Amino acid sequence: MATSRDSSVLLMISLVGSLLMLLSAANLHQDIDITWGDGRAKILNNGELLTLSLDKASGSGFQSKNEYLFGKIDMQLKLVPGNSAGTVTAYYLSSQGSTHDEIDFEFLGNLSGDPYILHTNVFSQGKGNREQQFYLWFDPTANFHTYSILWNPKCIIFCVDGTPIREFKNSESIGVPYPKKQAMRIYSSLWNADDWATRGGLVKTDWNGAPFTASYRNFNANACIWSSGASSCSSAGSSSNSWLSQELDSTSQERLHWVQKNYMIYNYCTDTKRFPLGLPQECNMS
Ligand SMILES: *[C@@H]1O[C@H](CO)[C@@H](O)[C@H](O)[C@H]1NC(C)=O
Repeated sequence: MATSRDSSVLLMISLVGSLLMLLSAANLHQDIDITWGDGRAKILNNGELLTLSLDKASGSGFQSKNEYLFGKIDMQLKLVPGNSAGTVTAYYLSSQGSTHDEIDFEFLGNLSGDPYILHTNVFSQGKGNREQQFYLWFDPTANFHTYSILWNPKCIIFCVDGTPIREFKNSESIGVPYPKKQAMRIYSSLWNADDWATRGGLVKTDWNGAPFTASYRNFNANACIWSSGASSCSSAGSSSNSWLSQELDSTSQERLHWVQKNYMIYNYCTDTKRFPLGLPQECNMS
C-alpha cells in the first residue's frame, strides 16, 4: 500500500507531467497558415507536426499567421533524408516589398551521406549579400533539431540547438542599415533549386526519390506581435522579455568561435575577391 509520502510524490510527478503537457501543447494550427503546394503541405497529429513535400510538379510552403517586430523564435526541423540533392528547405523571417528586411536559414540538400549546407543571410532595407554557410555537426535528417532566430534591437543571432552559429550586430552607428522598423513573418518552403543548390548546380534532383518531405514541430515564438500599426510583446512571467536586450555572453562567444572555426565554409566578410573595393562596413566591427 502506498504511504502518504509515496502518494504525494506521485501527485508531484503527475502535476509536473501535466505542466509539461501544457508547455508542449503548442498547436501549429494556431500559429501557421499553409500557403501553397496544393495539398503537399500538411498539419498533422492535432497540430503537433507539419510536413512539407516536393515532387516534380510542385513544392509547398507555409507562413506564420502573425507578423513580428523582434522576437526569439524557435522551430524544430527534420530535413529531407536520403538523396536530397537539388532540394532546398528555406526557413526565414521576411517583411514585404522591395526594401524588405529578411533573416534566412536555407538548407541545401545533398546526395546520401554527403553534408547539407546551412546557408544564412541577412537583408536590411532590400540589401542582402551577407551570406555565411556552414556544415552541421550532426546529420540534420536523422532527428529533429532546433533552429532559432533571436532578433532584437541590438543584434540578430542564429542558433542551432542553442549553439550560436552567427551574429549580426546592429552597426547603425557606422552607417549600416539594421532591420528594426519592418515587421516580419516566418516563411518556409521546400522547393527544387537544382540549378544552384548542390555543388553549385552540378548535382541534379533525382525525381525517382520524390516526394521529398521535411518535417517541423515545436514552434515557439517569444516575440512582439505586430498588429494594426502597434507592437505588443508577450510578457507572461517575470523575466520573459529578457530576450529583447539579450546579447552573446562569453560562453556563447566561445561556442560561436568553435562553430565558425570548425564548420563555417563561406563567409562574405572574408571574400575580398567579391568585394575588391573593400569589405562591407559591418565586417570591420569584430
Ligand atoms: C555536398 O557534398 C559535397 C561533397 O562532400 C560537398 O562538397 C558539398 O559542400 C555538399 N553540399 C552541397 C549542398 O553541395
